[in-house]
Amino acid sequence: MNEQIIEAAKQYIQEIFKDNSDGHDAGHSLRVYVNAMKIAEGYPDCNRKVVALAALLHDVDDHKLFDTKDNGNAVGFLKSRDISDFEIELICEIINAVSFSKNKGSRPGSLEGKIVQDADRLDAIGAIGIARTFAYGGKAGRPLASSIEHFHEKLLLLKDLMNTEEAREMAKARHAFMEEYLAEFQKEDKQYYRGERNNNEDSYRCGYAE
Ligand code: NI
Repeated sequence: MNEQIIEAAKQYIQEIFKDNSDGHDAGHSLRVYVNAMKIAEGYPDCNRKVVALAALLHDVDDHKLFDTKDNGNAVGFLKSRDISDFEIELICEIINAVSFSKNKGSRPGSLEGKIVQDADRLDAIGAIGIARTFAYGGKAGRPLASSIEHFHEKLLLLKDLMNTEEAREMAKARHAFMEEYLAEFQKEDKQYYRGERNNNEDSYRCGYAE
């Protein structure tokens, strides 16, 4: 694998995400890269260069952050390097496929895409996932209760949506920690509403989300 391109991509994401405070910072992309390379170890036949670059660049054209069309940032970066058109196409395909919001949980077609999607999802759960959720919610102007809802609507589902066995294993401890955290949050939070709510867990949570 061409280490120079990987180093250049790392620098590029440091630059492009430098003012980001919503959980999509350079650290996120770097962790997705590390997760992806770890999962890729279990698949000797996969194209490691494509996995690495797709992981590092997977958010550089995210519509929530950038106003680009047709993967403008990713293609702009890749075109100036020694990468075949075929690989550029594959990388863009992966970038477009990994987004949960765009694809509503569908699976990317390529093995490399499945690996990057798992790597991205791993960074959305566990202690880091919790931090990123509140950072994103705060930036979007949402109250804490909406961020808590996001765990139930999306984050707690992710461990069963992993494509690879490796990621399913890696997700277990992170998922368990989120459940522990949510139970503790609810326990603390609930005492402030005692008497105002009817003590039914479900209606409490639904009522809270209104
Ligand atoms: Ni991401």
